[in-house]
Amino acid sequence: MHKRRRPLIAGNWKMFKGGPTGLALARACVEVADALHHVEVVIAPPYTVLAAAAAECDGSRVALAGQNVHARTEGAFTGEISASMLADSGCTWVIVGHSERRQHFGETDALVADKVRAAFDGALTPIVCVGETLEEREAGRTLEVVRRQVEAFAPILGKLSDGRLAAAIAYEPIWAIGTGKTAGPREAEEVHLAIRTWLHDHGADLAHDTRILYGGSVKPENADALLACANVDGALVGGASLDAASFGAIARAAEAIAHATSH
Ligand code: PGA
Repeated sequence: MHKRRRPLIAGNWKMFKGGPTGLALARACVEVADALHHVEVVIAPPYTVLAAAAAECDGSRVALAGQNVHARTEGAFTGEISASMLADSGCTWVIVGHSERRQHFGETDALVADKVRAAFDGALTPIVCVGETLEEREAGRTLEVVRRQVEAFAPILGKLSDGRLAAAIAYEPIWAIGTGKTAGPREAEEVHLAIRTWLHDHGADLAHDTRILYGGSVKPENADALLACANVDGALVGGASLDAASFGAIARAAEAIAHATSH
């Protein structure tokens, strides 16, 4: 097995860790990342601590992500945030189309595509999330659903991704998010490989370079097996990213695999 893509470990804090506890966590993540050489580390704190977390992470190996972005650059959209606002707060990344956004806030494939475009326009690199529900998996529709989600934004990646702004895709089966259930490595790899194959239609480099992260109850105990899969290039971590020790253990698992495969 030979992996050329640099592993990406991203922590999605969701609506947790505002205020001083968020800053302490950001500081702890800086320490974790300082000891790593092969892994890229991204954290997505709540908006209220982004700017202060950016100061904590300044000059470190931790990059910041927004958890969401509006599709427009500005306007009368109470409660929303634009790509340039995220960039001004120190973000270089943004999570787009998380299943919680799709489920609870009505985000459609078309809106997700608009947000991906907005991220690129604002010089943010998107981590675009896809994934099926339990019902869809049980009906044997996983690949059909994930393909539809990927095809909605893949043409934009084909046009706008470049070396500097190479998007990542996170495959997160909804039934595995926050439930303690994970897709096994075989189930994950099947979908990751399929996504890479579909990306080929939009560019060989795109398919080769795009990092496809796995998400859904990733923990230190299951990280090794998932990250060892040929087409799993990192993880989008929710619950376990709220604790620097477990987030660190996941990042070190990615580091060990990247180190082993770089020789
Ligand atoms: P989880 O969340 O690790 O808590 O399952 C993952 C995510 O929602 O990105």
